[in-house]
Amino acid sequence: MTADPADKRKIILSGNRPTGRLHWGNYTGALENWVRLQDEYRCYFMVADWHVLTTALDKADLIAHHSREMFLDWLGAGLDPEKSVLFIQSQVKEHAELYLLLAMLISKGRLERNPTFKEQIRDLNLGGEISYGHLGYPVLQAADILAYRAHAVPVGEDQLPHLELTREMARRFNRLFGDVFPEPEALVTKFARFPGTDGKRMSKSLGNTIEIAASPEEILEKIRPAYTDPARLRRSDPGHPEVCAVYTWYRKFLPEEAEATAAECRSAGRGCVDCKLKLAAGVTAHFAPLRERREAFAADPGKLDEIIAHGCEQARAVAAGTMEEVHQAMGLG
Ligand code: TRP
Ligand code: SF4
Repeated sequence: MTADPADKRKIILSGNRPTGRLHWGNYTGALENWVRLQDEYRCYFMVADWHVLTTALDKADLIAHHSREMFLDWLGAGLDPEKSVLFIQSQVKEHAELYLLLAMLISKGRLERNPTFKEQIRDLNLGGEISYGHLGYPVLQAADILAYRAHAVPVGEDQLPHLELTREMARRFNRLFGDVFPEPEALVTKFARFPGTDGKRMSKSLGNTIEIAASPEEILEKIRPAYTDPARLRRSDPGHPEVCAVYTWYRKFLPEEAEATAAECRSAGRGCVDCKLKLAAGVTAHFAPLRERREAFAADPGKLDEIIAHGCEQARAVAAGTMEEVHQAMGLG
């Protein structure tokens, strides 16, 4: 049980913003790894719903639905509420208090220099419309992590600047008020750019995703027009599997088929249409257990409510304990 003080395993926290169903890229880049970490660490996995508000305030009404969808994807993939604490950020108000206190420990200039922030300003075309909350994104993320005194945070490389900011705030707090927080380390999830259906990095914003809960029909529909070797114009042309998204998916999901696929592609022994049909069938089978588990949870909303409520309660108890120490260290109330 994660909240048991006798449990000496290291603590992990990670989170994901609920913006829709998870796709193959999310799965290989994070979720699959989280499932593995559950036995080795005391794990906290959080639906970062408040974080969505920093960039998608106009879609606030979708967040609650997406949070439930995220829980279903997680449970389907094998995150286990018996092993890990699975919870929703907004249901643990302690994050908001810690966010406020940490905000005193970091300068505005430091947040403005955050490379992720600068990129978002450039890519999202936000112009002058940058909220105070958006600038404070990494402070909220630090609160998420430090509320559970996590030792490690499994994240993709893109999150390293946020981890560095978290460490800075933890150090500053400890220096000023005494040792309360471990300095969390990043556990970088390595995945060579996972390709989407157009061969570019799979990403929701590019519209090139395949969902882990996709039906067999949806999988086929997405794979059929997918990006292959652009130099292979005719069935009789030899192909180059190393540039083909379909081949990368074989290596990931059907590794036992990868070698034969590459050989038959190079010798023009296999056509792309057949290659894709075979992949679609294989991937459908690969994700079938996940889909079945997901559907079973989706069919019992009352049980899902209970699982969510229980996880949030566990998280609250731990975060409240941390806040008590924070109050004491700071000499507050
Ligand atoms: N910023 C993370 C992302 O976009 C999500 C997140 C929020 C998170 N809080 C976190 C990740 C705490 C790790 C730890 O993916
Ligand atoms: Fe890609 Fe398969 Fe076509 Fe080769 S045969 S280019 S691996 S889809």
